[in-house]
Amino acid sequence: MENRLTKWHDAYIQNAYHELKHGTTRKQLETLNINATGKRVLDVGCGPGNLLVALSTDAPELLIGVDIDETFLVFGRSQIQKSIAPPSAVPTLLRASLPTLPFADETFDLVTCFLVMPHVPDDTVALTELARVLKPGGTLAISGHGLGFPLRYLKRFRLKPLQMYLASLIYRCTGKKWIRNTLQNDRKICDLLESIGVVPAVRHYNQKILGCVATYWVKAIKNDTNPKTMQ
Ligand SMILES: C[S@@+](CC[C@H](N)C(=O)[O-])C[C@H]1O[C@@H](n2cnc3c(N)ncnc32)[C@H](O)[C@@H]1O
Repeated sequence: MENRLTKWHDAYIQNAYHELKHGTTRKQLETLNINATGKRVLDVGCGPGNLLVALSTDAPELLIGVDIDETFLVFGRSQIQKSIAPPSAVPTLLRASLPTLPFADETFDLVTCFLVMPHVPDDTVALTELARVLKPGGTLAISGHGLGFPLRYLKRFRLKPLQMYLASLIYRCTGKKWIRNTLQNDRKICDLLESIGVVPAVRHYNQKILGCVATYWVKAIKNDTNPKTMQ
């Protein structure tokens, strides 16, 4: 992938750091009752590192962010150098992508993966990989977009919402992600999590538009009984 800051990257970074500065990112963690103190933490799809900056103030034992997009990582590293100093934990940012994370089984106490699920090729495969690197009893926190999300953008980007609905319909009918940015039914995501032994504990929505969830957050706990060790 080309390492170039596009208009889209720039807009995303501005918004992400605006939310960080105004406490929205911290509030999301608090709503899910997430505290990283003393934990081994991985943020998957960390983008420009906004969530890592928020998590670093909890002083985790280990803090790693991975993303598929080197452009975000380059920005994130320089931002982290400017804004984080010990005693806050200084995160390491690596290029890696779902569904193949370069970590051993059961490495982390907390895995966060915010707004990445709409972009992964297959939900089950991605969630299974996130669960693999999580210790038994560890916490997985994810978020994504539901059917209400594109309604916000109907006026500004007329074709984009239609594309998102079409992509989501195709995914539901065929199991194939035609373009990234699919919308998700958070109940199905919770069922999927449960089926792989990661039990949802907290579910939260920002708002419903015409009765449809725009953005959802789920915190789930990996079962202590690991089927691998029981075989
Ligand atoms: C909408 S942004 C979310 C960034 C950040 N997690 C946040 O909450 O602000 C989606 C991020 O996921 C990354 N991404 C997309 N597909 C990915 C994959 N298969 N593996 C890892 N990261 C991915 C993108 O590069 C982008 O940084």
